[in-house]
Amino acid sequence: MDYKKYIKIVNDWPKKGIEFKDITPLMDNGMAFKSAVDEIVEFAKEKDIDLVVGPEARGFIVGCPVSYALGVGFAPVRKEGKLPREVIKVDYGLEYGKNVLTIHKDAIKPGQRVLITDDLLATGGTIEATIQLVEELGGIVVGCAFLIELSYLDGLAKLKDYDVLTLMKY
Ligand code: PRP
Repeated sequence: MDYKKYIKIVNDWPKKGIEFKDITPLMDNGMAFKSAVDEIVEFAKEKDIDLVVGPEARGFIVGCPVSYALGVGFAPVRKEGKLPREVIKVDYGLEYGKNVLTIHKDAIKPGQRVLITDDLLATGGTIEATIQLVEELGGIVVGCAFLIELSYLDGLAKLKDYDVLTLMKY
């Protein structure tokens, strides 16, 4: 499917110079959204996944339907101060800022096979931080799936050792 026709490009948002890729028209279209989720589910099916992990907030939108379809759980990675129990945390750089990501300490059991999902791979800072959290808890990252990859930012360079699926490239 040509998913790009469902992505709206918003110039200078949230900051000047950023060409924001708005995925909400894709989510708004049942057929396109289902097709995108199904492609990620297909990618994940042969990987014997135990858990899907996704970073706030758009990683939840992609990850939750995938975890539901696979019949496995979903663990949220959230910005600092959002998770109510004991967490581990990591600092990360973003395409347009800096942040801290956290995950509940008991979210992953050692040896669990994890698929990480997000809407967008830009610099790769978020996915790298998420991988670090999963691996620190003993999870095995068996795949990373994104709707969009911004190839010009080369986030893929941070994922050389991982199996990656992206549905659109810019
Ligand atoms: C965006 C996007 C990815 C990340 C990609 O999230 O949803 O998670 O940035 O950028 P990177 O590859 O350079 O790290 P953002 O932090 O804006 O959070 P949000 O989904 O809560 O808006």
